[in-house]
Amino acid sequence: MENSKIGFIGGGNMAASLIGGLREGGAPAENIIAGEPDPDRQQWLKQEFGIAVTDNNADVVAQSDVVILAVKPQVMSAVLTPLKTTLQAHRPLLVSIAAGIRESDLQRWAGGGLAIVRVMPNTPALVGAGAAGLYANELVDDDRKALAQAIMQAVGVAVWVDAESELDLVTAISGSGPAYFFYLMELMESAAIKYGMDSGQARLLTLETALGAAKLALLSEEGPAELRRKVTSPGGTTEAALNAMQQGHLPETIEQAISAAARRSRELAEELSE
Ligand SMILES: NC(=O)c1ccc[n+]([C@@H]2O[C@H](COP(=O)([O-])OP(=O)(O)OC[C@H]3O[C@@H](n4cnc5c(N)ncnc54)[C@H](OP(=O)(O)O)[C@@H]3O)[C@@H](O)[C@H]2O)c1
Repeated sequence: MENSKIGFIGGGNMAASLIGGLREGGAPAENIIAGEPDPDRQQWLKQEFGIAVTDNNADVVAQSDVVILAVKPQVMSAVLTPLKTTLQAHRPLLVSIAAGIRESDLQRWAGGGLAIVRVMPNTPALVGAGAAGLYANELVDDDRKALAQAIMQAVGVAVWVDAESELDLVTAISGSGPAYFFYLMELMESAAIKYGMDSGQARLLTLETALGAAKLALLSEEGPAELRRKVTSPGGTTEAALNAMQQGHLPETIEQAISAAARRSRELAEELSE
């Protein structure tokens, strides 16, 4: 990755987290360029990361081995279509982090025949703790796969899926997943306050417990189910809570939630394709 020229189209939140991760990992500033229309944002990107910034996306394409498409899904077709000639002349690896835009649509807007990687990242990437799913089309060779993976690993973990359709499930698990955990934290915090705990303590204890549980699960050789069994003494407090969750049909609710998110991901891809 050291010698690869990395271009970003769109210099928003996600691009900034990736650029920050790449710079921290040792990528030279002179190897990174971002195309961004907002002058204030351009200035910030220059100051924060020392990278080149332009409002001309064609310059980004012409100068880069890999172009990361980091604009909102709704503007992707309007951004790619005018770049068709430059993309076809330079043929960089395209890495799209836009939720829901299919490879076939990117390919159509970009003129066809390009190596494309589609990534489903998540918001913890903003603090270097992302979990992303990646899909490569058949034109991406091993070197370019390694490059795309290294870029995403600058902000967390990255796993490959074999079929593009699997990204819908990635979206339902890790893409939307942070919100599920936020929701659980929110509910635990408000229950603690309702039953008399100070709000500051409720937040601190809830958040640190979430972090501690995730750390323990990641570092342990045992899976979450085994870890849960270990902290659940018969007749104890944890068992009482877990019984209440099961009586409230939490397992079925979570299963339905994942299925609903994956279904919505498929629907959104259809809508964005039009
Ligand atoms: N944030 C996440 O956690 C997350 C998670 C999964 C996927 N994603 C995907 O990541 C992508 C970027 O999300 P984000 O949160 O980083 O959004 P964002 O902060 O809004 O960044 C998008 C940037 O693109 C710029 N832009 C708009 N039109 C452009 C053009 N024609 N050429 C170049 N740049 C242009 C925007 O500038 P203006 O503000 O001036 O319009 C903005 O700075 C999205 O496709 C999203 O689906 C994000």
